[in-house]
Amino acid sequence: MPVLPPLPDRIGAIAAPYLPPEPLDSPPLRWAILGAGGIAHKFVRDIERAGSRVIAVGSRTPGKATEFAAAAHVPCAGSYEDVVARDDVDAVYVATTHNFHAAAAKVAMSAGKPVLIEKPIAPSARELADVRRAAEAAGVLVMEAMWSRFLPHYAIIRAFVESGTLGRVTYVRAEHSQRLRGVARMEDPNLAGGAALDLGVYPASFIHWILGKPTMVQAAGHLTDRGVDADGIAMLSYPHANAVYEASMQVKMVNSAVVAFERGRIELPYEFYRLSEIRVVWDEGSDLYQEVWSMKAIENYGFEYEGAAFARALATGQTEVSGHGWQDAAEVIEILDRIRSDIGVVQGE
Ligand SMILES: NC(=O)c1ccc[n+]([C@@H]2O[C@H](COP(=O)([O-])OP(=O)(O)OC[C@H]3O[C@@H](n4cnc5c(N)ncnc54)[C@H](OP(=O)(O)O)[C@@H]3O)[C@@H](O)[C@H]2O)c1
Repeated sequence: MPVLPPLPDRIGAIAAPYLPPEPLDSPPLRWAILGAGGIAHKFVRDIERAGSRVIAVGSRTPGKATEFAAAAHVPCAGSYEDVVARDDVDAVYVATTHNFHAAAAKVAMSAGKPVLIEKPIAPSARELADVRRAAEAAGVLVMEAMWSRFLPHYAIIRAFVESGTLGRVTYVRAEHSQRLRGVARMEDPNLAGGAALDLGVYPASFIHWILGKPTMVQAAGHLTDRGVDADGIAMLSYPHANAVYEASMQVKMVNSAVVAFERGRIELPYEFYRLSEIRVVWDEGSDLYQEVWSMKAIENYGFEYEGAAFARALATGQTEVSGHGWQDAAEVIEILDRIRSDIGVVQGE
């Protein structure tokens, strides 16, 4: 079965130079996971599609690691220190809550292991800079697990942005809202809870991926009674474009995104951050010509593409992954710092 459905001719001609020949083509890696929670289970399942395997899981609570290992068919379980010390572990995936990412990543780095860190790498720009210093000192590959950036249909967006086929980008809008009230880590300020860091990181990253660092960010939203952001809307300004960010943990939305150009638009009509559908609309004067490419037939979550990008970077000795390096992660968390501050979230010193 082909990995991807064939592209319509007109999109294919423009996107061809930007599409990786085989997005899952990568050297196999043996992974260890730190943090035996919800997202870690999805990673175990998806990473196999990139030809890799999770061979160890680490948890602060030994019984929890063992339970996870049994349920997910992972051969080894132990503490964080145990699993990163293993000679047969090639790479480490940090899957704790955001506030513990930095500490867990440093455990892996101190054992000389390359690290894929769940997004956001850290809850603030200041803490991210600290992780970056540790990574540079250790000289290991580190990547933020902003998996959406590596999805194959994102290469189509990149093709239109870079080729200028539809003219310059004038506007981007992206929303990510899920009903997550009551989820412990979302509600808890001590676990870096709130909508922006968990959900808003997707629209912020998407907008940044297309338009880069904004000249101005202005946000408004609501706080929960524990002082994390329940929702927020932000406007991002650029010299020739505007962007709108929306995120909420109060309500589930369709979660669409749009990129408007001078002569057309690209729509991601639902769940823009995962394998979904892409619609390219050419504005040809009196006519609108539309092409759709659907990825619905692919059932997995989509982490395998970031896993493959990570494995390729590791094989070629890089310490950053092309397309999503330290500067990208830093500029996105700066946007989220601003948004959270405007909404009134009290951030640690
Ligand atoms: N990529 C995606 O689509 C996606 C989706 C959901 C979440 N995420 C990200 O994945 C990360 C984890 O999310 P999750 O839903 O998997 O979280 P989770 O299941 O609530 O927790 C993950 C792990 O974090 C540690 N942890 C949680 N609460 C803790 C507490 N009160 N004290 C100490 N440690 C605690 C535990 O590690 P130990 O096992 O070591 O105790 C736990 O197993 C977050 O950064 C989130 O943004 C990504």
